[in-house]
Amino acid sequence: MIDQFGRDISYLRLSITERCTLRCDYCRAGEGICPRREELKAKDFIRIAQACAKLGIRKIRLTGGEPLLRKDLIEIIQGLAAIEGIQELTMTTNAQMLPGQARALKAAGLNRINISLDSLKAARYFEMTRGDLNQVLAGIDDALHADLQPVRINAVLVHGRNDDEVDNFIALTRDKPLEVRFIELMPIGALGQDESMRVSNDKLLAKRPWLQPIPPRFPGQVARDYAVEGYQGRVGFISPVSHQFCTDCNRIRVMSDGMLRPCLGNNLEYPLKEALAKGDDALMEVIRHAIEHKPAGHQFHQGFLSEKNMSRIGG
Ligand code: GTP
Ligand code: 5AD
Ligand code: SF4
Repeated sequence: MIDQFGRDISYLRLSITERCTLRCDYCRAGEGICPRREELKAKDFIRIAQACAKLGIRKIRLTGGEPLLRKDLIEIIQGLAAIEGIQELTMTTNAQMLPGQARALKAAGLNRINISLDSLKAARYFEMTRGDLNQVLAGIDDALHADLQPVRINAVLVHGRNDDEVDNFIALTRDKPLEVRFIELMPIGALGQDESMRVSNDKLLAKRPWLQPIPPRFPGQVARDYAVEGYQGRVGFISPVSHQFCTDCNRIRVMSDGMLRPCLGNNLEYPLKEALAKGDDALMEVIRHAIEHKPAGHQFHQGFLSEKNMSRIGG
């Protein structure tokens, strides 16, 4: 479906739980979590995705919270993969629970995976997230072996905490077909409100002239990609604050409580729960209405205060 600004909305991000195994301070700080009973059921997500597919959605990403916490994740993946018109089904995970599971996810219909990893130093990783670095590294290898490729690594850089690790992250792409992406901290959550914590992707690039730009490979791609000669993988920079990419945005988001958020950086939301109870026509009507009212872009430069934290919205 084309929105009022001529954007083809083809990408649905489903945040299937706000529960998480980690406690990244830029993500969850200062907000409670909604009780688990409010989470939509697998069949509801599948019905929502079916309605979205009829309206032109072709790519779905599962996010959270941590999607691997859903006991019915395989059922969700199988249901979504079977929907006519869905060409790509992917997931963003912190990989704490990924080792040993990648093959089953692939068999259920997941095409590829993005893994959040903010430090390659075990003690620092623990300090930033409360997680176990070895689990993430094992999860990455498991995903590569299960052919959930390309495997993308998301690193949110925070000034003075992990921005000294940029070259270590890039080195990960030398011998493995990984795509490492550096994400600018967004002003969602307390840490991101503090501008001095944000690391400039332009400055990182200026210091590394040996990175060779690669033209965008798919519509609505948020990362600017680079290659390093002789390296198997790639490096990407996602800069929603300094290089707003909203004019090419192709996304809508549905959260685990059934709220549809047409833009990450705008509190506008549309409830789907009632429409789910009414029937598929009502559901499509709310989704169509939400797409029609998708804002032109985020409000990060207008003192935006998100009413929900990132683990609810799903990034
Ligand atoms: P690919 O399909 O592999 O390119 O993944 P993706 O970048 O669409 O998804 P992922 O979950 O890996 O997100 C990476 C980062 O991009 C996260 O920090 C997201 O919050 C951010 N991001 C994704 N979509 C948007 C968007 O529409 N607006 C903004 N501001 N950030 C976004
Ligand atoms: N700014 C930028 N990225 C964020 N993420 C979570 N919170 C923020 C933030 N404030 C990232 C996670 C994950 C992706 C879905 O969003 O690290 O990789
Ligand atoms: Fe961290 Fe992602 Fe969990 Fe947020 S949802 S606390 S970014 S792992």
